[in-house]
Amino acid sequence: MSGTFYVTTPIYYVNAEPHLGHAYTTIAADVMARYHRLCSRRTYFLTGTDEHGDKMVKCAEAAGRPVQELVDQNSSLFRELWPRLNISNDDFIRTTETRHRSVVKLVLSMVKNSGDIYFSEYEGLYCYGCERFYTERELVEGLCPDHRKKPEVIRESNYFFRMSKYQDWLIDHIHKHPDFIRPERYRNEVLSFLKEPLEDLCISRPKTRLTWGITLPFDENYVTYVWFDALINYISALGFPDGPLYRELWPAVQHVIAKDILKPHGIYWPCMLKSAGIEPYQHLNVHGYWGGSEGKMSKSLGNVVKPLDLVEIYGLDAFRYFLMREMVFGLDSEFSEEALVSRINSDLANDLGNLLARSLAMVQKYFQGELPNPGIEKEPDIELRKEVMALLDKYTGFMEELGFHKSLMAIWEVMGMMNRYIVTQEPWVLAKTDKDRLSTVLNYVMESLKVISVLLWPFMPETSRKIQTYLGLGKTGEELKLEDVRQWGAERPVRTAGQAPHLFPRIEKEPPEKPAEKKGPKPAASAPSGKPAVSIEDFRKLDIRIGTITGAEPIKGAKKLLKLSVDIGEERTVVAGVAQSYPPESLIGKQVVILANLQPATLMGVESQGMILAAEDKNGSRLLIPDSPVKPGNKVK
Ligand code: MSP
Repeated sequence: MSGTFYVTTPIYYVNAEPHLGHAYTTIAADVMARYHRLCSRRTYFLTGTDEHGDKMVKCAEAAGRPVQELVDQNSSLFRELWPRLNISNDDFIRTTETRHRSVVKLVLSMVKNSGDIYFSEYEGLYCYGCERFYTERELVEGLCPDHRKKPEVIRESNYFFRMSKYQDWLIDHIHKHPDFIRPERYRNEVLSFLKEPLEDLCISRPKTRLTWGITLPFDENYVTYVWFDALINYISALGFPDGPLYRELWPAVQHVIAKDILKPHGIYWPCMLKSAGIEPYQHLNVHGYWGGSEGKMSKSLGNVVKPLDLVEIYGLDAFRYFLMREMVFGLDSEFSEEALVSRINSDLANDLGNLLARSLAMVQKYFQGELPNPGIEKEPDIELRKEVMALLDKYTGFMEELGFHKSLMAIWEVMGMMNRYIVTQEPWVLAKTDKDRLSTVLNYVMESLKVISVLLWPFMPETSRKIQTYLGLGKTGEELKLEDVRQWGAERPVRTAGQAPHLFPRIEKEPPEKPAEKKGPKPAASAPSGKPAVSIEDFRKLDIRIGTITGAEPIKGAKKLLKLSVDIGEERTVVAGVAQSYPPESLIGKQVVILANLQPATLMGVESQGMILAAEDKNGSRLLIPDSPVKPGNKVK
């Protein structure tokens, strides 16, 4: 592994909105980039959008808009999504930018100078959806395998790239570099494709048919085929041929793609590079496809999962964790919200959340938050320390070979061991019998949590930072490197933040309602009461807060009502129908849930500025009360 690491995602087409598949690839590349930064390696991360070609023209026509306007707007959907998924890309390239267009022209000239471009008439079967010619052999029952449409016969003169010339070189290169394309199944797929004679690649489109593209530097009447244009983004963004980034980073590059675009990346791209006299990339990392529970995810099937909907409901880190834990890199996965909820509840709320909360609570309780020093190390402590240190090597091994789910499994195994350590060492008993030993045990738990927080950073950057803040570490987030935790006891936690946090609240079995589709109202599902379901937007209009009751008195002439003073960060008077369930004095100091933006109403002569939430039961009203103290005024969501 060289000293620099350059990772790329595909540049996404801008004829559709980003969905779960795009989010997965980009998060996987982000996890890789963050991991390499964690290893203190010089890292560069590129993503972007692919904006030329027939697809964009058709899409703009359908929308009745100029192409430039459409691609500008849709490209920004991707650009704006990434920060919201905490994607740490260093650059975002668009193929319509001048810096890209000029490099495409340069590479075309280089390939032409190698004698690898010729002009010829061609008649072939063309799929407009794929924007490429198909051979009979590639069709399935005469149809395009992706679009299930009969390709059209097109006869025209075009420029061709002599790809066939590089077939033997490519086969040899793949054999000499066994992990050039990985996992192995995709390497084998490319090799098996290369068993048949490779055809030359048509790399132009006549302007009579398509003008939305990069004009060939050697013929004004043609634009460049969109794939030949798009692949070059990986070097144009670095300032090829003599930009400092290009000099520094190429060819230490790892491309991340899904299996759908294996052929252009596994075959066209290395041949193009070879022809232009540029070194081939280091690795092509290919993952499988996410499908809905009914199979492939596609716009036409209407089962496209929008990443932000999920992030809004379940939280960003839970979403990132789920994607990386659930998919075995290279294999297909099925997406289901039930699986997401169950991972949140078991892995995040139960395992990680509880372990952290219970550990911090013990340090708080027994040492007032001051992290204790270790005493003499005993057998169980040695065992825990060794497991944690061994985890570092396992983790790096898995991360280097893209076994993200294995890295996470290894971390969770160690958390299981920590839980067993706590149970067998019984700190609650030691608190009464042996304070020295208690110090050691809690010190070891904190040390282990510190290491785990660092290893989690590439996957869940915010959670990792939160844990590190709770542990009172001097450095947090990207300031902490793997090197910092290689030595047990270095970068020591100092003082916990006190209150045990609930990083991942449990989610009830039924996944919460999704935010309503923007396009139009969906038929409202029925709530158990038979009332129509409300959208999350409607729910968000409610300003629900925690309040503390500071005063309570009967209202003259009213049997059921009490006049309450409630502190919600400000003082509110609220009339509540709880007189038959609670004597006024019993309410003072109780925390309640209050709807704070209900229009004021006057009841029995008293203006009520909100509503206290309570559940009805055969014995009367029961107030809803938070299960531990919450700051008055805090929001209820
Ligand atoms: N523009 C080309 C890529 C050019 S790269 C030089 C393109 N764009 S795309 O918008 O169709 O994106 C395809 C990529 O999106 C896949 O390779 C993958 O990274 C991601 N995914 C799209 N759908 C996916 C799934 N259902 N599952 C997993 N990833 C998927 O092709």
